[in-house]
Amino acid sequence: MDPILNPFAPGAGTAPPELTGRSELLHSAQVALERVRLGRPARSFMATGLRGVGKTVLLNHVYRMADASAYKAIHVEAVAGRSLPTLLLPALKRTLLELDRLGQVNEAVKRGLRVLRSFVSAVKLNVGEAELGIDIDPERGVADSGELEADLTALFVALGNAARAREKAVAIFIDEVQYLARPDMSALIMALHRVSQLGLPITMFAAGLPHLLGVSGDTKTYAERLFDFTSIGALSYDDVIQAVDLPAQKQEISFTPQALQEIYQVTEGYPYFVQEWAYHSWNAAPRSPITQDDVVTAQKTVLARLDAGFFRVRFDRMTPRERAYLRTMAELGPGNHRSGEIANRMNADVRSLGPLRNILISKGMIYSPAYGENAFTVPLFDAYLRRAMPEFKA
Ligand SMILES: Nc1ncnc2c1ncn2[C@@H]1O[C@H](COP(=O)(O)OP(=O)(O)OP(=O)(O)O)[C@@H](O)[C@H]1O
Ligand SMILES: [Mg+2]
Repeated sequence: MDPILNPFAPGAGTAPPELTGRSELLHSAQVALERVRLGRPARSFMATGLRGVGKTVLLNHVYRMADASAYKAIHVEAVAGRSLPTLLLPALKRTLLELDRLGQVNEAVKRGLRVLRSFVSAVKLNVGEAELGIDIDPERGVADSGELEADLTALFVALGNAARAREKAVAIFIDEVQYLARPDMSALIMALHRVSQLGLPITMFAAGLPHLLGVSGDTKTYAERLFDFTSIGALSYDDVIQAVDLPAQKQEISFTPQALQEIYQVTEGYPYFVQEWAYHSWNAAPRSPITQDDVVTAQKTVLARLDAGFFRVRFDRMTPRERAYLRTMAELGPGNHRSGEIANRMNADVRSLGPLRNILISKGMIYSPAYGENAFTVPLFDAYLRRAMPEFKA
């Protein structure tokens, strides 16, 4: 089939031709956006899931929903080692300047800018000050204590008042949220909690790898009131069928039921794999309907591509010891594996492997689904490792 007309969209954060299986989440997000705008309490979502399940795509979809209504939408991607102020401030500044330009001089908006200026003067940043320079006097004594939680709260309150004065709301979208440091995460939650108490129109949607939320006590309680912690995962059989069949049908092309069944089976419903398989099956098929044989023919190309790309980029970042740990996990098969079990296989003491395990978690290769348990963040990674390191002996 003509590759130029191929509707499928494998890639990081590439919008699929048909976003299936997420309608409930999107509906709740729409309701939350409307409620926050009206100053009513609402729960946004914090979505977690493995690599390639569609977190970024989902977040981008809600971003566009916000952007199309009365929202100023801010999107940032957290990066290991970068502080929250460094990530957020350029976008917050832009938002306040846009609010400023929306109408006649407004005291709440000007105050927002002054508070931002105070905030900037008090935090240590690793972005150029010039990028954040604002031609306005700071609001002395507000948001400049140097204590992140209090300062961020003061800044969000000022921003919320500024947005309200312009009949706008603010939605902050944070992708790869697992990279935020714990104190930053907890300051963010406390600041959002305060603006929600005051009925100010600011909300946040976030997505990241599965992890145990690194906050406790009051912060945890507030987080549970502010967010629905949703885990997003593989698509159901019906959702896979829709994701593949509908985009093809729009171009008057069809997949046979056996072809669809085959795609579901080999991908286990993981969205990124669904796009890859559908894409290459389309290219491999000589004509419509696309058959099971076409899917099987495409398999070689897909696996070669995945092994050279999606899987390989992650594998290449690992040291030999890290690879050995991962390969041992793969030897134990799919699913969760206890640290003790892995250590046994490696003939090592579980405590001595603790630091190695922590590095793998911080690199986002594995996560801990429960205390002492380990699982891959990349679906089907165990099978890949067995292909990549066939001779391995623990
Ligand atoms: N609901 C869905 N239906 C069909 N395809 C989807 C869906 N969600 C995502 N995809 C496809 O899956 C692929 C991966 O999506 P995305 O990059 O959003 O995943 P991710 O969870 O952010 O991955 P990572 O953890 O690597 O950042 C894209 O090609 C996208 O088009
Ligand atoms: Mg992503």
